[in-house]
Amino acid sequence: MGVSINVSSVDKVYSPAGGHDIGVLDRLSVAFASGSITGIIGPSGSGKSTLLHIIGTLETPTAGTVTYDGAASPTSEKDLAAFRRDHIGFVFQQHHLIPHLTVLENVLVPQLAGKGKRLSTDAVSRANGLLERVGLAERTSHKPSELSGGECQRVAVVRALLQNPDIVLADEPTGALDAATAGALLDLLLELQKDDGFTLIVVTHTPEIAARLGRIVRLDAGKLVEVNG
Ligand SMILES: Nc1ncnc2c1ncn2[C@@H]1O[C@H](COP(=O)(O)OP(=O)(O)OP(=O)(O)O)[C@@H](O)[C@H]1O
Ligand SMILES: [Mg+2]
Repeated sequence: MGVSINVSSVDKVYSPAGGHDIGVLDRLSVAFASGSITGIIGPSGSGKSTLLHIIGTLETPTAGTVTYDGAASPTSEKDLAAFRRDHIGFVFQQHHLIPHLTVLENVLVPQLAGKGKRLSTDAVSRANGLLERVGLAERTSHKPSELSGGECQRVAVVRALLQNPDIVLADEPTGALDAATAGALLDLLLELQKDDGFTLIVVTHTPEIAARLGRIVRLDAGKLVEVNG
């Protein structure tokens, strides 16, 4: 599966209390086809994370719209949380695993986010299956401190994929890794994308990573330009 994403004339202006407005995105429009793979590059501070957060409904645009297969995201906080949980997987630069939970528990955290939710045996078996797929079957009861950085990022990828998302948004997922480990994590993301067909958007500073993503767009001065594609 996968959904198409259409970002249309999006502005983002931050208005910090007592400070000057910061215009980050300027009538930005871009479309991502269902099941496509796109790399976003651009200088630090150009708004890459902001754009990813807007697509992921973690932030709202100041103006403009984002649609998913032609429909807007829900507006109420409750429906929005469900929308995010059911359709979108995030992988961040730092894995944000919870230190005192095991690998398996960390992966299942999003399942427990809904109030009074109980874990389904389905979720547990999917978590175990995915952990096996990323080569961590033997490590499910370990704590993050017992894993390498690359292994922690693989756990974060499994956590993002647990709900079978239609969209996976990765914000410099290999930023904290050495070149070889970064390459292996990208291999994994691309392999999972090929199998599951989700729409994948990866923000990266690393030319070697961007070069493997097919389509690359560059964010600069609030606008996106195609680099190739
Ligand atoms: N909550 C906020 N309030 C005010 N300004 C913000 C906020 N979040 C981001 N900004 C500003 O918006 C601009 C874009 O930030 P963003 O994090 O999207 O950049 P980025 O391209 O992801 O940079 P990097 O490559 O360093 O991660 C920056 O100037 C940043 O300081
Ligand atoms: Mg960023």
